[in-house]
Amino acid sequence: MQQKIIILDFGSQTTQLIGRRVRELDTFCEILPYNKFPVGDDSVIGVILSGSPYSVHDPEAFRVDLSQFMGRLPVLGICYGAQYISHSLGGRVEKADSREYGRANLETVDLDSPLFKGFEQGSQVWMSHGDTITAIPDGFRCIASTKDVKYAAYSLTPTPSSKAPVFAVQFHPEVFHTLQGKQLLQNFVVDICGSRQEWSAASFVDTTVQELKQQLGDDRVILGLSGGVDSSVAAVLLNRAIGKNLTCIFVDHGLLRKNEFRQVMDDYQELGLNVIGVDASEKFFADLAGVADPEEKRKIIGRDFIEVFNEQARSLINSANSTHHSSFKWLAQGTIYPDRIESLNITGKVIKSHHNVGGLPKEMNLLLCEPLKWLFKDEVRRVGRQLGMPEHLITRHPFPGPGLAVRILGDITPEKVRILQDADDIYIRALREYKVKLSGEEARKVLAAGVPAQMQDGAIEVSLYDQIWQAGVILLSTVRSVGVMGDERTYEHPVALRAVTSSDAMTADWAHLPYDFMAKVSNEIINKVRGVNRVCYDISSKPPATIEWE
Ligand code: XMP
Repeated sequence: MQQKIIILDFGSQTTQLIGRRVRELDTFCEILPYNKFPVGDDSVIGVILSGSPYSVHDPEAFRVDLSQFMGRLPVLGICYGAQYISHSLGGRVEKADSREYGRANLETVDLDSPLFKGFEQGSQVWMSHGDTITAIPDGFRCIASTKDVKYAAYSLTPTPSSKAPVFAVQFHPEVFHTLQGKQLLQNFVVDICGSRQEWSAASFVDTTVQELKQQLGDDRVILGLSGGVDSSVAAVLLNRAIGKNLTCIFVDHGLLRKNEFRQVMDDYQELGLNVIGVDASEKFFADLAGVADPEEKRKIIGRDFIEVFNEQARSLINSANSTHHSSFKWLAQGTIYPDRIESLNITGKVIKSHHNVGGLPKEMNLLLCEPLKWLFKDEVRRVGRQLGMPEHLITRHPFPGPGLAVRILGDITPEKVRILQDADDIYIRALREYKVKLSGEEARKVLAAGVPAQMQDGAIEVSLYDQIWQAGVILLSTVRSVGVMGDERTYEHPVALRAVTSSDAMTADWAHLPYDFMAKVSNEIINKVRGVNRVCYDISSKPPATIEWE
């Protein structure tokens, strides 16, 4: 039976990060709402309670019945999780004099505690809480303190009546700033919960291919490809399981990057995929003509996309029926785990909106197949590598479904798309070519994201492209400014360069690109791209800005 850790989510921004860290320990985990512990599931080997935006004293704070698992399974409470355990079992939690936020050092650590095996005294941790624990429950003992936080960590050793240990930490082991956080999670997941560490890209590929073979038999499957990582990995995985019974549809709406349709089609063909490429750009341009409103553009593109895709799917289904080939019974999608994690609605704000699945008409009667539905993004990349996919497909930045349409302010014309494609191509190429040396925390962050780089003398060399989450150019087609080129006055459009760092696109920081890099890109765009005479850099973070401009 596949072992798993359950992470109960009390609404913290870092809950998903806990999940990713556990998976990095080759251990399967599920993130569930705080009140949905799967009682009776024998595959659970341990429970982690996440942080929360609430104080344990808030009337609407999320509460869980700890007796469902405590004493039977090892428990680790993080931040709110730690405070909740204390509050529930007779300890005391009070408002801290000041919010404890940022780096701190564990001044005393009980190195004999199994949770702190391999730790150093003084180890740096990351705190982020408004309440603090001022008394721990009877029978528990303090196992770490910082200068300001007496009960930075506490624990309960198993007793005859309570067979499994309890650990609680007020800091966040899942974030990078807690330098030995990975060690702590490994101590909990592997040593304390007894994970056999059997969850890996290789084991995922083997079991998923077997499962898909059983599930699909001789049925045929349709899959929509976008050129992005998720749908491409899903296609290669399905191809390995069912070969030619998989037919992929790749719709070109004319709003992809320069030459991207052709390049991606070539990549897919090299991977042995059975792909139908549909050039529908004329239809999209015709329907978008004269439309400048961002939402309206998105609606038209979404509607046209479904129309074109459905038409192809319908004709595939009909031709399979008429030729007595086995029929198409499944629609496959590259949905990944973060799209499906049930999110908590806190004070009316949806922290993450749900993925919008489907759009195929009911009469097609297709069942949904989502082979990547348990994977985080970095795991999808690992699986892609395991499947032997080329690195440029795997490390490709996310790209919005409506494509360059949401990066052209104003209405869309083929000429504007051409200008933007040319500028974007210069920018993206330059990002790939410019190498930077990273060390310390920056290097660890990039490596943990799965970027294949070799550490040498404590540093790694990566391209700017691999160091950032996403980049692109925005054409301000409704704006013109005066310039001079040779002896000529110009009156043309500005473009904005955008580059952000992020781990999930929910929040993002503008990337601090080197000045010499920006100078080179600006020169090249203005010299080579007809229609652009000014280049700006977008220095807005999300929130309050978004990554895309529309
Ligand atoms: P924003 O602009 O909301 O974007 O900060 C967050 C992430 O989502 C991508 N994005 C989209 N992806 N269809 C998609 O498949 C869309 O309509 C869409 N809009 C934005 C965006 O590129 C970024 O990665």
